[in-house]
Amino acid sequence: MSDLLSLTRAARLVGVTRAALQKKIQVGELISYDGMVTIENLLSCYPDAQLEDNVEFKRISQIKERAFGKRVFEYVLPDAEVLAARIAELSKTLANSQEQVKQFNVLLDKLWNKFSEIESQSKSEVRTAMENLKAWIKQEVSATLESGYNNSVAIKDGVLRIMTAQVTVLPSKHDFLVEGQDTLLEAAMRAGIPLNYGCSGGNCGLCKAKVVSGQVKKTRHHDFAISEADKNQGCILLCSNTAVSDVVLEAAVAGGVQDIPFQQISAKVKAIDALAGDMVLLHLQTPRSERLRFLAGQSVTLRVGQSFTAELPIASCPCDDRNLLFHLRRLPGNLFSDYVFERLNQNDVVEVEGPQGEFILHEKSPRPLYFFAFDGGFAPIKSVIEHAMSLEAESIHLYRIGSSQEHIYLPNVGRAWADALDNFHYEQQVAGFDLRAVNGKREEKLNEQLSSIVASNAEITQSDIYLAGPESALAVAEQFFLDIGLPKTRVFVAIVN
Ligand code: FES
Repeated sequence: MSDLLSLTRAARLVGVTRAALQKKIQVGELISYDGMVTIENLLSCYPDAQLEDNVEFKRISQIKERAFGKRVFEYVLPDAEVLAARIAELSKTLANSQEQVKQFNVLLDKLWNKFSEIESQSKSEVRTAMENLKAWIKQEVSATLESGYNNSVAIKDGVLRIMTAQVTVLPSKHDFLVEGQDTLLEAAMRAGIPLNYGCSGGNCGLCKAKVVSGQVKKTRHHDFAISEADKNQGCILLCSNTAVSDVVLEAAVAGGVQDIPFQQISAKVKAIDALAGDMVLLHLQTPRSERLRFLAGQSVTLRVGQSFTAELPIASCPCDDRNLLFHLRRLPGNLFSDYVFERLNQNDVVEVEGPQGEFILHEKSPRPLYFFAFDGGFAPIKSVIEHAMSLEAESIHLYRIGSSQEHIYLPNVGRAWADALDNFHYEQQVAGFDLRAVNGKREEKLNEQLSSIVASNAEITQSDIYLAGPESALAVAEQFFLDIGLPKTRVFVAIVN
């Protein structure tokens, strides 16, 4: 059997998502060996795969770039030493293969001599049989050598092995590719894998992990001192090392909100941009030596001025480096929003505490994802969707329902996702009334709107439903989905007033 490829690498080679490969495995079109596939089987599923035939992958990269404002997706070559080591490794494999071919030819010569010996001592019918056998072997050998390994997927795999390294995390069995000059931590975060970390700058030691196999290289200085005992065990800091070869790590992955510690960070205002009407996009940045650790969809408490506080959902993804985005509406009589709109300036300090909340993606669920964002509920939903895209979720539906057109701020985001991804469906609807006060006739109208969405999506009762927005609208929407038969364990709710 030829070399086995992980699904992450195989998906990259033929330019499809991991989910697409998983689907083929489920229906028996692609054979997998403990979650791995061979190049031959991959090619028989995707016979037309070409070096440049990675349209879907490119689309996903583009959408991620757009989603993350190009802050995290820069395409750069690996460090020169890393590149040299990977080329050396590939040269070693090539030299081994050449030696094997040489040995194979020697063996063939010996076999030929043996045949000649037998022929010379045999009767005529055995000689004829031997001649036929030799002709058959000759034909088979030349046919094999002709086709050799000259296929585009194998060539691309060679290039991919130079440009990237694969990392497998134990015991969770997550895997991801390290590209460019990314550290192991950065690459994991881009892939949506919540490894343990704190500062991301080599100070806290929280990203310490053990290298089980493979070669890593320190690319960033760290002040945190790893003890001799840990060094002897193969421990490294994920935020200071990259992968030279394919690597297996033993590292802790957050399994849920209970694994994320409470943090207090003094962030600075990077920008306050008007969105629509009375909404702004508050962009905070944590200090160089600190990153907020959270799961997509969670909230934090912000403190400005003397002590004006608000609990707000984070509208960005944990993979977005030191950037924290918030969608803030000005509410009459709300001192926090008054302060932000009237007095908060660029570079002012905002205290961030948290994270809190359990509105997170249920990653292991194989079901389609339906998101309903009512007014400002788009903030946590945007964060969860970006995370779902990192994990290459199979099917995502986003419905934005606004009290008015103005409440559907940033409509271009949903449209851009839908334009770029085949598996993304986007729609927006105006309710025509204040979603913070849904009762009587309004409740009927909202139920009608939801009914018409369900009528055109037969699979919705087999899906996971994520609802976020004002409490009043959510109470109606949640009850609606429970009434049509969804169990409470598949309807997730985040109140954003
Ligand atoms: S995250 Fe703090 S040392 Fe790596």
